[in-house]
Amino acid sequence: MPEYHGGPPSGELHQILGNGEVVAFFAAEYKTFPFAFHYIKNVEVSPQKMNKGVGKALVDKVNNFLDENNSCGILFNGISGPAKNMYSKAGWREVPKHPGWLVHNAPDNVSEQDWELAIMSISIV
Ligand SMILES: CC(C)(COP(=O)(O)OP(=O)(O)OC[C@H]1O[C@@H](n2cnc3c(N)ncnc32)[C@H](O)[C@@H]1OP(=O)(O)O)[C@@H](O)C(=O)NCCC(=O)NCCS
Repeated sequence: MPEYHGGPPSGELHQILGNGEVVAFFAAEYKTFPFAFHYIKNVEVSPQKMNKGVGKALVDKVNNFLDENNSCGILFNGISGPAKNMYSKAGWREVPKHPGWLVHNAPDNVSEQDWELAIMSISIV
């Protein structure tokens, strides 16, 4: 089973099970400032299950969660993280002027200042 880095995550935990075992998970933390969004974090596939399409299924699960809740999602993947193409294929876009930060279901007309505040509100927790 995958281990969390830095202790259990805050927020709501979502898992994918295979044969009764956790093979992948992510956590979603709801934020309301400067607009409503979910901070998506701890997106991980169990090392033994990598490169078998589980990551793609996991991103589909993240997207379904956001779509069902009519919510925007924001996550950090590093500028050249291995999952970059996986996210872009699943409709995630770069947050303007914030390399490595990705967004899905972005609200219309978010100002540069509000992107800055949203990312600050994640980073300072
Ligand atoms: C990134 C991660 C979620 C991908 O999961 P996975 O189950 O191995 O991915 P999949 O088998 O579904 O592959 C999805 C795509 O990513 C690509 N990919 C996966 N790992 C890769 C790697 N290390 N380097 C380059 N590409 C990679 C696959 O080739 C595939 O691309 P394709 O759609 O063009 O075929 C998984 O490797 C992981 O948990 N990594 C550690 C944590 C992490 O980096 N999380 C993401 C940060 S938010």
